[in-house]
Amino acid sequence: MKEIKTFDEFYSSFYADRWPFLKTAILEPVLFLPFQKELKKPYFLNLASYLAVRALGEVGNQEVLDLCAAPGGKTLVLASSLGPEGFIVANERSSARRNRLKRVLEEHLFPERLSRIKITGHDAGKWGLYEQNRYDLILLDVPCSSERHLLEKPSHLKKWSTNRTRHLAQQAYAMVLSALMALKPGGKLLYCTCALSPLENDGVIERVEQKKGEEVRLLSVEIQDPRVVAEPTRFGIQILPDLSNGAGPLYVALLTKQS
Ligand SMILES: C[S@@+](CC[C@H](N)C(=O)[O-])C[C@H]1O[C@@H](n2cnc3c(N)ncnc32)[C@H](O)[C@@H]1O
Repeated sequence: MKEIKTFDEFYSSFYADRWPFLKTAILEPVLFLPFQKELKKPYFLNLASYLAVRALGEVGNQEVLDLCAAPGGKTLVLASSLGPEGFIVANERSSARRNRLKRVLEEHLFPERLSRIKITGHDAGKWGLYEQNRYDLILLDVPCSSERHLLEKPSHLKKWSTNRTRHLAQQAYAMVLSALMALKPGGKLLYCTCALSPLENDGVIERVEQKKGEEVRLLSVEIQDPRVVAEPTRFGIQILPDLSNGAGPLYVALLTKQS
């Protein structure tokens, strides 16, 4: 196989003739949703991010762990369906981003709901060593290649390499294993990325399946919104801006742990 050297070669090898259209669409305006349910004021987030969190279902009185939470858009969506006995742990390892998360939650949430969210600052990849079989729902929105940001800034694009996406995929794999340890049997783990690199998407879930076998089962991701196309992949779905009016990119896989 020909050695892949450039960003375009790498993505063309997966997306083929679609790549130029996808690349153009990524640089066009994002389809933002002014999300306001149970909030003091609207929070603008990518429509695909909102739909991904909703695929976890209502939070109600369950215990939720949001492992990579800053700046907090998805935490707000989780909080919007939090019941009176429900609880969210919003974790973020970077202290600067954790401060931003705290500010976002304080500026948008009413005090009663805010009081049922605990902010922590641990390494998502090690969480499962300390807490097992605890959470009903886990959101794992991992750090990823985020090609939209790379393409928006040439200085960021220079940092791209195939090794970088491999490294991010490895880190994400460790985080999924850690999250599965923290998940209650029968609970749901939503894995998502804003990456286009399949190594960080289906590639991670494929390795998890191989490692965990019957212990982990994939659930179907239900997304129905006329503004987006949820394109099935081998293990999850992907929303891509060229077919979804600027929403995405977002990859989502939903897993459950057998008892
Ligand atoms: C894709 S962003 C999360 C976006 C967030 N869920 C939202 O909707 O606003 C990934 C976050 O993970 C954080 N992060 C990176 N490595 C981490 C780790 N080992 N443990 C916990 N958080 C981490 C990053 O600082 C970043 O804020």
